[in-house]
Amino acid sequence: MQLTYLGHSCFLLETSHARIVIDPFITGNPSCPLALEQLSCDYILLSHGHEDHTADAFALAQRCQATIVANYEIAEYFSAKGAKTHGLNPGGGHTFPFGRVKLTLAHHTSSMEAGANPRYMGVACGIIISADQKNLYHAGDTALFLDMQLIGKAGLDVAMLPIGDNFTMGPDDALLALEFLKAKVTVPMHFNTWPVIAQDGDAFARRAATGGHAVRVMKPGDTLAV
Ligand code: NI
Ligand code: MN
Repeated sequence: MQLTYLGHSCFLLETSHARIVIDPFITGNPSCPLALEQLSCDYILLSHGHEDHTADAFALAQRCQATIVANYEIAEYFSAKGAKTHGLNPGGGHTFPFGRVKLTLAHHTSSMEAGANPRYMGVACGIIISADQKNLYHAGDTALFLDMQLIGKAGLDVAMLPIGDNFTMGPDDALLALEFLKAKVTVPMHFNTWPVIAQDGDAFARRAATGGHAVRVMKPGDTLAV
């Protein structure tokens, strides 16, 4: 399968049976190489409610008749608007025609319609996708947590891990996460979109290499064969 980075925490995963977009943030994402109209998919996976992870979920779901998979609150929110959805919660998974999606813990917040009265959107999650005999983990926006060791027990082919700091773990904590997850390759995300999360991805990859961990720094638009 093919994993294409669309900037920030947004990825397109093309398995043998489905096109899956994770955390669609196309509109308003200064690092996304595509226009929304250029993207099509069958499933949309959301880690949590924040705008930089869900901005285009509804428009994409409507145009493509794609199914939104997210925590229960987010699934209900989009279902009420008329989208096809499937709700999960951490620890729970479901087998779809293309493979299995399981939500994991993440330490972060989750809301929509930010402002004085943001709407609570359940807990923030990570996502494990098992398809075409591979396991991928998208950590969402999270702090470092020791239970990542349990997530690593799935046997991860690819981990997508935030390194931006400020809103999520930064590079120092992400280096510890590599030890816990033991993925064959890790792709850093959620950095350099804005100055407040500026990080040196190549420096992170070099530090990871000294610990024996493979890190692939993808530029927006890059594709990784998994
Ligand atoms: Ni967030
Ligand atoms: Mn975020």
